[in-house]
Amino acid sequence: MSLRIVAGTANPSLAAAVAVALSCEPAACEVERFPDGELRPVVGDVRGDDVYVIEPTGPAVSDHVVELLLVLDACRRAGADRITAVVPYFGYARQDRRNRSGEAVGARVMVDALGAAGARRLVVVDPHTAALEAMCSVPAEMLTAVPVLARGLESAMPGRAVVVAPDLGAVKLAEHYAPLLRCPVAVVRKRRVSGEAVRAEELVGEVEDRAPVVVDDMISTGATIEAAVRVLRAHAAAAEVVVVATHGLLVGSAPERLAAVTSRLLVTDSLSRADRPGLEVEVRSIAPLLADAIGRLHRDEDLGDLRARS
Ligand code: R5P
Repeated sequence: MSLRIVAGTANPSLAAAVAVALSCEPAACEVERFPDGELRPVVGDVRGDDVYVIEPTGPAVSDHVVELLLVLDACRRAGADRITAVVPYFGYARQDRRNRSGEAVGARVMVDALGAAGARRLVVVDPHTAALEAMCSVPAEMLTAVPVLARGLESAMPGRAVVVAPDLGAVKLAEHYAPLLRCPVAVVRKRRVSGEAVRAEELVGEVEDRAPVVVDDMISTGATIEAAVRVLRAHAAAAEVVVVATHGLLVGSAPERLAAVTSRLLVTDSLSRADRPGLEVEVRSIAPLLADAIGRLHRDEDLGDLRARS
């Protein structure tokens, strides 16, 4: 069974870098868009192959979700032997439970749809919720980009730093970064007011005169980071603020918000560069991480140290 990479349109340069790292030629995949907005993917010959469809479901989220489902179905109908959905950024992961009656559990809907479309395995990088794995009826591999980003930070780490989780959900991530960066951890408690507004309410930990390294799984509008920095300033943290996130969605006014409160911003290339206009961002590639994981899965080897901590 040959290894084949199939790239959707969400992040073709990441898929190409993964294919290069694996020394394999990506299978053809054309996605036609009809005037009414419908998508029609056509994949090349993948009969009998071990196929890895690479498609992060970042903005435009719904388009990329539908495209991924259609590409998975196309690979199944083309006779692929085993199909893995590689979704470095998994959209809808924040909808992992109902916060009030009448809501959907979007994350569950997404994983069910991927399985129904033909995915026999899922690969995600630093998903918003570890609960994603338990929701999946197919094996799900949760990788982490923390070592990649921590290595990127090392070159210019501020002295006397503190790793800051900007909300309780980021504590595990902060605890993963802390020993790699040799820093203590502080935690901000936040409350989301709306999709674009959050309120940071409390700080636990010592930040006075320390340079904060704020870590998160994703940055969408930048509201979480902005609110956390406000609290850090109120507690006399150093003015230099480094922000690190696996997924830089950077939607709406995020670039302006972040430019006002950060000295340095690092993200991975899980989402295409087109999603980050007008902001200076250092980008670390997860292509070697994905290539390593895909190579091991193809050879039926354990992913061990590549996995996220839960
Ligand atoms: C939520 O809990 C996530 O970990 C992020 O903190 C959040 O989604 C970031 O969104 P925004 O940038 O819009 O505050």
